[in-house]
Amino acid sequence: METLKVALLGAGNVGAQVARILLEDADALAGRVGARLALTGIAVRDVDAPRAVDLPRELLSTDAEAVMAGADLVVELMGGIEPARTLILAALASGATVVTGNKALLAEHGPELYAAAEDAGVQLAYEAAVAGAIPIIRPVRDNLAGDNITKVLGIVNGTTNYILDAMDATGASFADALADAQRLGYAEADPTADVEGLDAAAKATILASLAFHTSFDRAHVWCEGITAITAEDVAAARDAGYVIKLLAICETVPANPADQGASDGDRGVAVRVHPTLLPREHALASVRGAYNAVYIEAEYAGSLMFYGAGAGGVPTASAVLGDIVSSARRRVLGGPGVTESVGAHVTPVGLEAVVTSY
Ligand code: HSE
Repeated sequence: METLKVALLGAGNVGAQVARILLEDADALAGRVGARLALTGIAVRDVDAPRAVDLPRELLSTDAEAVMAGADLVVELMGGIEPARTLILAALASGATVVTGNKALLAEHGPELYAAAEDAGVQLAYEAAVAGAIPIIRPVRDNLAGDNITKVLGIVNGTTNYILDAMDATGASFADALADAQRLGYAEADPTADVEGLDAAAKATILASLAFHTSFDRAHVWCEGITAITAEDVAAARDAGYVIKLLAICETVPANPADQGASDGDRGVAVRVHPTLLPREHALASVRGAYNAVYIEAEYAGSLMFYGAGAGGVPTASAVLGDIVSSARRRVLGGPGVTESVGAHVTPVGLEAVVTSY
């Protein structure tokens, strides 16, 4: 069986879990890919830093270029703009497939990176960049590509949803709820990106670009975070039958603001992130804790809702691993490799056995 070399850049909350699962589930993943995925190196800032997962020390290195050398797949989970951008461009130029969860980088430099992948004829996969474990990139980019999306409403930041939910449910202060979110590993290293709405704005940029087939830039997104929301605001909203949620909103609007309310005429797309009062019976109002949800309206599909864990190392690792397996399959098969099943790895069970397990 062929072996594909996988280089991992970053071993934080998500990266460490991806490494663990690549090592622990190596046989199962090999069966699904049709090739073994050999984790050949992990680039980290500090080899001795404490980690949630014990990783084989011989795989750790502070030399990212050396870790990437000869890799078939490069998995970038270090975050930030540089050196992630330079390393991804180098990986693509070398012919490696790249998997990333770096929403800030994609929001600021997406077109440059997509063009580099296209020029190199390799895949750049980024399902983990938006809404953690929720499959949302491929549904918006591929499954809905023949439809006309008119609206995307998303709770796409787990930290702020956790904070607002805790303030609503327990009356917790903003500071206590944020400390909990950090302890649970939802918040970014610098939680400013979460609480100021910057993380949600980066995700909104990516979603809007895919949903509306346009290259949105982070600068197009109006952004307001939750730092000004007080316990009193949350309580007043609750008393009035509302809940406060930080929403990413991407919707078609009249291109000319003077046409507001007009049903015809040129339409543009507005992308914004801000705290929003939602009636408590709204589907997005019931999204609790660090969960995320994305609600989509499309001309032919109607209303769709995607829901799941939007943050956290293990759930986000699921999205990264999905990209690794499907893009590795593509390298092995030389085709789309997204839906093909390679061999039978699970014994079919009779219906009775399945039914009685519920
Ligand atoms: N800090 C992010 C969040 C992690 O809270 O949603 C996932 O992007």
